[in-house]
Amino acid sequence: MINDRPLVYLDNAATSQKPQVVIDALVNYYMTENSNVHRGVHTLSQRATDSYEEARVKVQRFLNAADDKEIIFVRGTTEGINLVAQTYGRQNVGEGDEIIISAMEHHSNIVPWQMLCQEKGAHLKVVPINDEGEFLLDEYENLLSPRTKLVSIVHQSNALGTINPVEQIVELAHARGIPVLLDGAQAVAHVPIDVQRIGCDFYVFSGHKLYGPTGVGALYGRADLLDAMPPYQGGGEMIRSVTFEKTLYNVIPNKFEAGTQNIAGSVGLGVAIDYVNNLGMDNIAAYENELLAYGTKRLSEIEAVRLIGTARHKGSILSFVMENAHPHDVGTILDAEGIAVRTGHHCAQPLMDRFGVPATVRASLAFYNTRERN
Ligand SMILES: Cc1ncc(COP(=O)(O)O)c(C=O)c1O
Repeated sequence: MINDRPLVYLDNAATSQKPQVVIDALVNYYMTENSNVHRGVHTLSQRATDSYEEARVKVQRFLNAADDKEIIFVRGTTEGINLVAQTYGRQNVGEGDEIIISAMEHHSNIVPWQMLCQEKGAHLKVVPINDEGEFLLDEYENLLSPRTKLVSIVHQSNALGTINPVEQIVELAHARGIPVLLDGAQAVAHVPIDVQRIGCDFYVFSGHKLYGPTGVGALYGRADLLDAMPPYQGGGEMIRSVTFEKTLYNVIPNKFEAGTQNIAGSVGLGVAIDYVNNLGMDNIAAYENELLAYGTKRLSEIEAVRLIGTARHKGSILSFVMENAHPHDVGTILDAEGIAVRTGHHCAQPLMDRFGVPATVRASLAFYNTRERN
């Protein structure tokens, strides 16, 4: 109950609620397997290592990556993008080079590239969007140049719901030999992902938006790229041998997993993946699309409401503003009814500027939402 009303949780794009099996998996891990991984010969350590590595394989299969060594456990999407910026980016981007993002990026897919550009004297190029919130492929193609070193685009926008044409984005970049990173923070919970079919070079997501625990996520990277990249952080686990004169680094994925990782979180993420696999990602997408169509219709019937983000291909997000009502007031009134929505700029301030609004109200859907109030 929230404010004496049954909770209606419509803030799934910020973070999702956790199935009981995920919560149980965390408790079970700490009660029966808790130990450090890759380090001990004792049975408990081997058990923990097996569970941790099984979770990696679950992520690999979930994304359809070719090999489990292409999966790096990170803290979440933000850390995954920073890892690529600070390793691949630092190694490959130089003065006068360009990185392409889009007008609908989350701050975590803007700021790491800005920091890199500042350090290297490189430039950030931004693909514009139309009034519906759709990625403009023609404009994108025009921005691709011999100076472009990386394209980094959101798969599904957290503020608009737009699902981007990622296969075409990758194809156009690859035709010019440019690698592509996709920010899958939102998409991963709503659409089936196949990194080999999409063809992207990096794919990043956070576990907590996929019904898993906070503090864990994954970076998929093509093995040849990861092999060639320098490590992100130094410390235990990422080394093969250390002397005071010289350190030899470990192979992937360990090269990028310095220090003790979020072992319990990774195991919990694996169980969350089992959970959505049992439901079926296609079923989740179909159900949410039906809810989205219903919500869009009902909101469109309210004259004072203006929907922000009306792309033809979109999922799970209803972002809107209301005439003569500040989004925060709308959010507060809904909260009094036990309805949790997000109000604000959704970590996408340049996108709010594009639509000429300071903030929106955002209802974001998950498979456990219903038409009726339960
Ligand atoms: C599209 C998108 N990218 C990146 C992020 C950052 O994710 P995290 O805070 O889990 O690192 C979010 C979170 O809201 C997001 O929606």
